[in-house]
Amino acid sequence: MELITEVNGRIEKLVPMITADEIQARIQELGRQISQDYAGQEVVALAVLKGSVLFFADLLRALDLPLLTTDFLGLSSYGSRTASSGVVRLTQDLSRPIEGKHLLVIEDIVDTGLTMKYLLDNFQTRRPASIRICTLLHKPAGKVVEVPMDYVGFTIEDKFVVGYGLDYDERYRQVPFIGVMEFQDLP
Ligand code: IMP
Ligand code: MG
Repeated sequence: MELITEVNGRIEKLVPMITADEIQARIQELGRQISQDYAGQEVVALAVLKGSVLFFADLLRALDLPLLTTDFLGLSSYGSRTASSGVVRLTQDLSRPIEGKHLLVIEDIVDTGLTMKYLLDNFQTRRPASIRICTLLHKPAGKVVEVPMDYVGFTIEDKFVVGYGLDYDERYRQVPFIGVMEFQDLP
């Protein structure tokens, strides 16, 4: 089902790419895999705000890791509305030290990789025991720097997508599916 919104004098259309059911099914698979890999360990699941919050909340409930704890950090990359510039800024730091901890970073999308590279470089200096990255989406066509991705929900083509946490101009994060943004002038 397409989502059509009239905003700022034009029409924004969301064409479904990944359904809510497909997202939830993939999360169950990721949950099983991650639970096996970290069985018995104390994992700190880190949500990268704001895009990963829906994925974070659903993935956590698919994990069977009784010793898991959580923390949040805010990152923001400057740029145009649909392309990231690679200039990354820490808008909110973690609430607790991560030295000696096993970190599972939960991200919405890896495109150029510059955001994750910034985050990995920043975290390495704090000497965690390990860092793994779990991203819901991966756009290989956008790659500028290599980042190790341990868990990938879906590999997608080079389109600007929104929904399920991902935004266009801060909108559409609440949409339960992932869709491709299209713009049309009003008739
Ligand atoms: P990267 O630094 O280019 O890998 O991009 C990371 C950030 O850019 C993500 O955390 C998103 O906030 C944003 N981003 C990249 N591609 C998309 C997209 O298709 N839709 C919405 N946001 C995106
Ligand atoms: Mg964003």
